Amino acid sequence: MSHESDFEYYEKMAHWSFDEYGIHEECLTSWDLYGLLNSFATPDSRILDLGTAGGEKILEFFPDCAEILGTDFSPAMVETARANLAKSGRKNISFKVMDNLNMDVPDEHFDIVTARHTCTDPAQILRCLKPGGHFLIRGVDKYDCWNLKLIMGGGQGCNDAVPISIADYENVLKAGFADVELVLIHTREYFKDRETFKAFLGAVPILSDVAIEGEPLDEKLLNEYIARNTIGGMIVLYRRYYGISGRKPV
Ligand SMILES: C[S@@+](CC[C@H](N)C(=O)[O-])C[C@H]1O[C@@H](n2cnc3c(N)ncnc32)[C@H](O)[C@@H]1O
Repeated sequence: MSHESDFEYYEKMAHWSFDEYGIHEECLTSWDLYGLLNSFATPDSRILDLGTAGGEKILEFFPDCAEILGTDFSPAMVETARANLAKSGRKNISFKVMDNLNMDVPDEHFDIVTARHTCTDPAQILRCLKPGGHFLIRGVDKYDCWNLKLIMGGGQGCNDAVPISIADYENVLKAGFADVELVLIHTREYFKDRETFKAFLGAVPILSDVAIEGEPLDEKLLNEYIARNTIGGMIVLYRRYYGISGRKPV
């Protein structure tokens, strides 16, 4: 998706929730952004979460500390995040509208920057981290749902010459981070029936390159995928993400 169509998509999705799909997730690998975040954080930490959406992840997984700033380029998302914060009763958290590619935060201010399933500019992130500060990314890889994309004839990232995981990894290294590690994350998502699975695919951008908005998915191809990828009565999606960790040199 382009920057502009990304923006329109997320403005519309400001109140999204995937709870209705009743997805059961099984993680096959152990890299955990929130586990690492909580192991690095202290009560004095200042943390920035880029592309925070409705702040759900901050409110559920981020520790209590001196400052947490969640940012998103979608004003509708930031409005939702502020409403969620008001209901939560948590302290030292704020949200603001900001483009990850044009960051407006002080230099050398944060101890930890997180970016989950959003775009980043590692050079700008390096600038706003204190020396020794940590950067944690989790992203959706080109090979996410690869067997589904092959059957459907395309999907998010299919035409990328370089997988996004590798591009991000190289950009983090080029920006000057130390102790950089790239880890591939494999999970399975189980869906109880065809209707739920199809509704989920219509609500997420996995097949956005091949599914035209408002038009149904190709039923025959969908049936082919389901026939090949049903285990114990549950339809399986094979997800592939990546995690990158790095530290600003002292
Ligand atoms: C898939 S959601 C991920 C939300 C949250 N980080 C999570 O892990 O659940 C991506 C979010 O990034 C935001 N986003 C996408 N591009 C952005 C950009 N260039 N600058 C700031 N936010 C952006 C979207 O508005 C959306 O809220």
